[in-house]
Amino acid sequence: MEMDEALKGRRSIRTYEDREIPDPIIRELLELATYAPSSMNGQPWHFIVIRAEKTKKRLVEIKNKYCPVEKQMYQADFLQEAPVIVVVCVDGNRSYDREVENGALATANLMLGAYSRGLGSVYLSAYRKGEPGISDEIRQLLILPQHIHPMTIVPLGYPDETPDTKTLSPLEDRISYETFGSK
Ligand SMILES: Cc1cc2nc3c(=O)[nH]c(=O)nc-3n(C[C@H](O)[C@H](O)[C@H](O)COP(=O)(O)O)c2cc1C
Repeated sequence: MEMDEALKGRRSIRTYEDREIPDPIIRELLELATYAPSSMNGQPWHFIVIRAEKTKKRLVEIKNKYCPVEKQMYQADFLQEAPVIVVVCVDGNRSYDREVENGALATANLMLGAYSRGLGSVYLSAYRKGEPGISDEIRQLLILPQHIHPMTIVPLGYPDETPDTKTLSPLEDRISYETFGSK
């Protein structure tokens, strides 16, 4: 698949076919994730691949418990239906104070790689600023050492929905030349 096609075509997918994803495909995706840029080339990633129903259920409970009031329409129940969930983690000792960026960039690679293989995914955060509870509970669930920080939760599955093409706000409104607002 062409890069432009992947970037433009990927949408969040929250409904999945009841179909397993072969292990070698998951491995390919994780390898692609590790080609992401990272601060000081620290390559701090660690991935937890989850297929166990009871772990998925706990992730749903944790995500819903810490879902802010204004985002209540984004309940995480759909995670339970994904055949595989990958929790993207970073090693705090190799992140050079850039845990979030390192986690997000690897997640983007993973999601685009998934899309190019016919898989759907969604980006969910595994941490919340000012609320250590969510990462602490995920850490406990996945038995992560203290220096390994969960950053994102990525459900993966063959899509059982076809979202519309994304409507974007006009690009011209977002571009300035030299200084903000100069058109
Ligand atoms: C930082 C971040 C956090 C997100 N959190 C959630 C979430 O908690 N639940 C969810 O269903 N989708 C979540 N999303 C997915 C967004 O809702 C989705 O990317 C957005 O609506 C744009 O749609 P698209 O991915 O189809 O382009 C998140 C996306 C980002 C980038």
